Amino acid sequence: MISFSKKYLSLLLAFAVGAIGGGVFPFVFMVLDLKELELDISSDNMLYVFNSQNIYIFSSLAFPVVFGLIAMLFLMITRSHKALIVAKEQVLLEQKKSIMNSKMASVGVMASGVAHEINNPITIVNLSLKKAERTLKKNPDNPLSAELLTILARVNQTTARITKIIDTMKQLTQDVSSDKRSTIKISSVINETIDFLTERCKTAKVVVRTDINDFNLDCNKGEISQVISNLMTNALDEIVAKDLEESKRYIEISTREENGKRLVKITDGGPGIAANVVNNIFDPFYTTKDVSEATGLGLNTSKKIMNAYEGDLFYNDQSPNTQFIMEFPAS
Ligand SMILES: Nc1ncnc2c1ncn2[C@@H]1O[C@H](COP(=O)(O)OP(=O)(O)OP(=O)(O)O)[C@@H](O)[C@H]1O
Ligand SMILES: [Mg+2]
Repeated sequence: MISFSKKYLSLLLAFAVGAIGGGVFPFVFMVLDLKELELDISSDNMLYVFNSQNIYIFSSLAFPVVFGLIAMLFLMITRSHKALIVAKEQVLLEQKKSIMNSKMASVGVMASGVAHEINNPITIVNLSLKKAERTLKKNPDNPLSAELLTILARVNQTTARITKIIDTMKQLTQDVSSDKRSTIKISSVINETIDFLTERCKTAKVVVRTDINDFNLDCNKGEISQVISNLMTNALDEIVAKDLEESKRYIEISTREENGKRLVKITDGGPGIAANVVNNIFDPFYTTKDVSEATGLGLNTSKKIMNAYEGDLFYNDQSPNTQFIMEFPAS
């Protein structure tokens, strides 16, 4: 409504400016005529010249109207040109997005193929490792046993990391098509994820609080649970690593509908993420943790999942405590 009246007001203004501009011309002609007749430029003489020729009466009406209309037309053309440029940019952006999506799709197919191919050899390596471990343990007198067991433990850790990366790749490339989605309550997926992490929270002496204003989601429950679980696990890792005091050993999950968006906020007692780290946290394979345990894919995967729901995942740097926000579009 406001933009509608603004649009017409600016057209009216353009007409007025044009009309004033156009009104100057008859006046200039009259002054030139007076000069030619060698008369003074006074209001009486002007009135005399004005009344003497019909052309002045006509032009003093026509010029402002014509110039006013030209100014309006000019404004309209400029506007539609601008709109055309914006539309062109939009089309280009959409094109870029769709190229990016198809690239991502082919990367996804390739990644799932690679994940599948790596899976079998890794299983064989794992089984062989177990066998080697058992054999070494059966021969404790062998002077090399202890050293070899340490080496095998390291190899085990590395294969566990590879397995974790493969699992994440598989999750990333799994089908997120709408036929795998169903309508669920956000409260149910949150409660189930909390249940799943209860033991870890207990061991870490971390309290989980919820403040839920329920809403429905049309989603693949496993994926949303994965995002919440990744965020909770990060919070747990941080609380344990920093050995936070009791009052800060908490994770709070709150849900709200704000400005038409459906939000899930996950806050922990940490003081926020350091400025030199925060710019990289959504990058794939970025981690500040021990690389034998972490892949650095948690936030990257979670953001991709949220993007697949036309939503987003972001870190809230305005919160006094560490807070991530999952944002779903309006239903
Ligand atoms: N709640 C948090 N508090 C402090 N730092 C965090 C928090 N969440 C994430 N980070 C930082 O972001 C980095 C990236 O997180 P991300 O979940 O992507 O990977 P990761 O947890 O290191 O590894 P993975 O999730 O694969 O086990 C973390 O290493 C950590 O530095
Ligand atoms: Mg993580």
